[in-house]
Amino acid sequence: MTTRTELLYSGKAKSVYSTDNPDYMIMLFRNDTSAFDGKKVDQLDRKGMVNNKFNAFIMEKLEAAGIPTHFEKCLSDTESLVKRLDMLPIECVVRNVAAGSICRRLGVEEGLTLNPPTFEMFLKDDALGDPMVNEYHIDSFGWATRDQVETAKSLTFRVNDVLKKLFDDAGLLLVDYKLEFGMSKGQLVLGDEFSPDGCRLWDKETRKKMDKDRFRQGLGGVIESYEEVGRRLGINFD
Ligand code: TMP
Ligand code: ASP
Repeated sequence: MTTRTELLYSGKAKSVYSTDNPDYMIMLFRNDTSAFDGKKVDQLDRKGMVNNKFNAFIMEKLEAAGIPTHFEKCLSDTESLVKRLDMLPIECVVRNVAAGSICRRLGVEEGLTLNPPTFEMFLKDDALGDPMVNEYHIDSFGWATRDQVETAKSLTFRVNDVLKKLFDDAGLLLVDYKLEFGMSKGQLVLGDEFSPDGCRLWDKETRKKMDKDRFRQGLGGVIESYEEVGRRLGINFD
């Protein structure tokens, strides 16, 4: 039985604990939700359980497609066992459709199809508002090696191939998503989580928002939408 030993890190929506095995950690998905770099926060019933199960489902699909992830297994409704990674302080984003910050930055209309999909990187720093950075910044400041950036980029696009199809088959459009990577024994591995907190998903027909934009924009029915997405994918939340 793997159990938590010490709290290592408490983020805005998850807490990370050490275990008696130094190679593994436990991620606890809490009901907390936040947006705008922690400026808007709330507690949403069932969120920890829904995101834990959602993340497990997606990570297993990605592993099956040959993408290395830190995910090992669910330990409870809200806890997962993961490999301990040395995280890069970088967020990798692929956008298939314009939404969110790219609309503000570049003055493009929400909903514009991006062909080919575009790729952006952000420095993980709430105090600075997660500024966009390029590969030269990352190199000059030593946040990651060129090799790590190239691998992270190619894995992020491979994730797009797998997940665009998965969501499309469930009647959903994968608008954009954010991934974080870390090193484990010399290999770059997908870490953190994949859930409707860190991506945008729209209903293919109606373009209804089914992701964290419902919280950011005060649209209501946040977890109901996450569960609807999960239900369409065949995830069992009971
Ligand atoms: P953005 O449009 O705000 O730049 O976000 C792009 C995608 O990345 C969107 O699906 C939300 C996700 N994201 C996070 O999950 N956390 C973050 O800190 C940021 C900046 C984006
Ligand atoms: N997760 C980040 C925050 O809590 C960014 C966001 O999702 O808007 O502020």
